[in-house]
Amino acid sequence: MSSARERYEAATRHLHPPFAVLDLAAFHANAADLARRAAGTPIRVVSKSIRCRHLLREALALPGFSGLMAFTLPEALWLARDGVCDDILVAYPTADTNAIAELAAHPDTARGITLMVDDVAHLDLITAAAPDPAHPIKVCIDIDTSWQPLGPRSRIGALRSPVRTPAQAAALARAITRDPRLHLDGIMAYEAQIAGVGDNPPGRPGYGRLLRWVQRHSQTELARRRAAIVNAVRDVADLRFVNGGGTGSLHTTRRERAITELAAGSGFYQPTLFDHYRGFSGRPAALFALPVVRRPAPGAVTVLGGGYPASGTADPTRLPSPHLPAGLSLSPTEGAGEVQTPLLGASAASLSIGDRVWLRHAKAGELCERFAELHLIDGDRLVATVPTYRGEGQTFL
Ligand SMILES: Cc1ncc(COP(=O)(O)O)c(C=O)c1O
Repeated sequence: MSSARERYEAATRHLHPPFAVLDLAAFHANAADLARRAAGTPIRVVSKSIRCRHLLREALALPGFSGLMAFTLPEALWLARDGVCDDILVAYPTADTNAIAELAAHPDTARGITLMVDDVAHLDLITAAAPDPAHPIKVCIDIDTSWQPLGPRSRIGALRSPVRTPAQAAALARAITRDPRLHLDGIMAYEAQIAGVGDNPPGRPGYGRLLRWVQRHSQTELARRRAAIVNAVRDVADLRFVNGGGTGSLHTTRRERAITELAAGSGFYQPTLFDHYRGFSGRPAALFALPVVRRPAPGAVTVLGGGYPASGTADPTRLPSPHLPAGLSLSPTEGAGEVQTPLLGASAASLSIGDRVWLRHAKAGELCERFAELHLIDGDRLVATVPTYRGEGQTFL
C-alpha cells in the first residue's frame, strides 16, 4: 500500500491547489470508532463540525448515528426542507425573529426541528411568532455543565446556559408546559470542559495530570446533577431525549443512565485539536493542499495561503498544521499567513516550487468555510467532488 501522501497526490494530480480533500476511509474508520465508543447510545451528528450536506447524509446513514445537531435556525430550516433529516436539534438559542416566524408558519417543517432555550426571554421570542397551539414549537432546555468547586466564581467550563439546578430547570420546564404554543422536547447538557479539551497535552505532563483530575471531578459532579435535573424535569413533563457529550467524551458520557443520546461531529474529520486524548485516537480525514510558491532560504518553503485559524482563544494550537510531508512546521514569528505561509524543517529541501504541502485545520467544520468543495478520496482515486456549505452559498455563521 502506498503512503497517504502518495495516494492523495495520485488522486488529485489534475487539481490545482489550494483545494480541500476528505479521505473517505479515514472518515468511515473515525465514524466506526465514534459508534464503538458510544456503545449503542445513538449519536446526534453535529453539523457545525461537518458543514457539507453530502457528508451529513453519509454520516446519518451509518449505524449508530441518528438526528442532527444544527448551529442556527436558518440552517435547520434549509436542511429540513431539503430532507437531510427530520430530527434537527438547534443547539444554540436563536434571536432570529424572521426565522422563528418562518418556523411557526410551516408546521410540517417545524415538526422536525427543536429550538434551544435557557431563558423565558427565549420563550417570549418564540411565542411572539404566534405558533398555532395545534402545532406547538418544540423546545429543549440547555443546562450549565460547568464545575464550580468553590462556587460561581470558580467556574470551570463554558459560559452557556444560566440554568444550573434542578429547581431552575423545573421552573423553566413549567413555564414551557404552561404555554400550549410550546412543547418541551428534551434536555441538553454539553460538557465542553471534558468533551472538548484533550486530556493528554503534548510536552505538558503536569498540566495533563491536573486536567484529568479536574475532568474526573467535573464528570462526577455533573453526572449527579444531570440525573437530578432530568428527574426534576420529568416530574413536569415527558422528555423525548436527554443529550450530552461530544467527540471527546462519548465513552464516558454514555455511561450515565440519564443520557439517552450523545452528540459528535469533530471526530469524523479528526482535526488537530482532537489529537491529544487518552481515550481515543482518530485518523486525519480532512486535509487541504497548498502550493509551494517560493523557496526563501535553506530549510524553508513558502506556500500560498494557509491563514485559516480556528475560533476560540487565539493561541498557536488554533493554527493549521503542516501534515505531509512530515517534518515541517509553521514559523514561530509568522504563523499561518493571509496570503503566504513559510514552512520550516528538514523536508523543505525535498520540495520544489509547484509541489504541494498537505495541511490539517485545528477545528473540523471551519475548514469548509474556506473551501467551496471537498474532493472525496477513496484509496488513490478521487471518487466525487461535493460542495461545502460555503460552496452552496450558505454561510450561516
Ligand atoms: C452542544 C454541543 N454538543 C456537542 C458538541 C460536540 O461537537 P464535536 O463532537 O464536533 O466536538 C458541541 C461542540 O461544540 C456542542 O456545542
